Amino acid sequence: MMTLVLNDSTQKQYEQYHLYPERGLLNDPNGLVYFKGKYHVFYQWNPNECDHSQKYWGHFISDDLKHWVRLDAALAPSEMEDAGGVYSGSAFVKDEKLYLFYTGNRRDENGKSIASTQMLAASEDGIDFKKLGSIFDHPTGYTKDVRDPMVWQGKNGHYYLILGARPNNNIGDIIIYESTDFLKWRFRGSLIEGELQNVRGYMLECPNLIKVDGKDVLIFSPQGLAADQANHRYENIYNTGYVVGKFNEETAHFEAETNFKELDQGFEFYAPQTMQLENGRQIMWGWAGIMPPEREQTLPTIESKNWAHVLTVPRELHIIDDELIQTAIPEILEVKEIKNVTDMQSLGVGQYLINTQDNWKLHFGMDMTLERLGQSLILSRRQWDNNIVEERVAIGQHDNILMIVDHDIIEVFTDDGKQVMTARYF
Ligand code: FRU
Repeated sequence: MMTLVLNDSTQKQYEQYHLYPERGLLNDPNGLVYFKGKYHVFYQWNPNECDHSQKYWGHFISDDLKHWVRLDAALAPSEMEDAGGVYSGSAFVKDEKLYLFYTGNRRDENGKSIASTQMLAASEDGIDFKKLGSIFDHPTGYTKDVRDPMVWQGKNGHYYLILGARPNNNIGDIIIYESTDFLKWRFRGSLIEGELQNVRGYMLECPNLIKVDGKDVLIFSPQGLAADQANHRYENIYNTGYVVGKFNEETAHFEAETNFKELDQGFEFYAPQTMQLENGRQIMWGWAGIMPPEREQTLPTIESKNWAHVLTVPRELHIIDDELIQTAIPEILEVKEIKNVTDMQSLGVGQYLINTQDNWKLHFGMDMTLERLGQSLILSRRQWDNNIVEERVAIGQHDNILMIVDHDIIEVFTDDGKQVMTARYF
């Protein structure tokens, strides 16, 4: 089991494998980094309400990716530019300092977001951060929706920073900046000019450009894709996926070599980020909570526990034949093998391996089932907000399945790690 040190010692740890907030609402994982001997997972956090009206950076740390401690918020709204929310961003380690790049959100007197500013904070110890302010002006040709900076250093030694962006023409974009000194950032335009025409929606959030097994992988979360039910794609309110390709440092352009593929076939998965470990391992966390607003407002944990949403378990990424393979990291595994799954009616909290070519059906709580029918793995859930039964389907090879079952979330790894299904259940 994962352990989480709780600030209030009268409480019992609720989720057994998943990070969740002490109170309020959690969304995107942010600033995932290994720094001075500790793993840091920051996250979008509204400590005051179970809604999106305000955002801080919450903070978990760990020595081993298994035992976690919740710390005080690392970043809170304090400046004119981030008074309406310290929005998502990423971490970068340089000269023994931990830098956090983030988006400052500004709101008008009615709470409507009106401006975004890309900002920086720095820390010597990874705990206390000093804000360094805005790093460049808003680009022209783009609406106020420009956010979620992610930074890396190229082979040429230059620094690159990408952002999700909604241009004035409302076709989602990722823009890129370059710096030689980490101080002055030069706008290089669109990272994906002429690429990915059908999967941009009107806005792309949380872009990540990472190396996995020597390949460049671009992960992003488009908003506004039409659902394609026939092919079981893009069926959630917003979606997340990846393409494999090549980033050219000279031209600051990413050329896609594969089609866009969703990272998760379940109901709740969004805005993931990765942590690169010193040995090159890439570990991804996602937000297991994207859902329609009516469903979010009626989330059972809000009434019973005064908090909303969890992060997924950490998933290690690999590339085989240009496809991303996800596996729960070995550090958290403690698996029971299930031989005779056909008899199994309902599974409680635990981790299970199912190795069989037979068909089967499992129950999770009263309202969710998972059924294997040959090449189809069918997740079916009666939605708690409207009682409508919806399905998500993964088509593939389902002879070997790893299932991580927690109190109110399951993560199902199937098709040799090529597909994962994440879903909350109550
Ligand atoms: C994604 C997102 C980001 C933004 C953050 C605000 O879920 O909308 O684009 O920075 O959440 O909490």
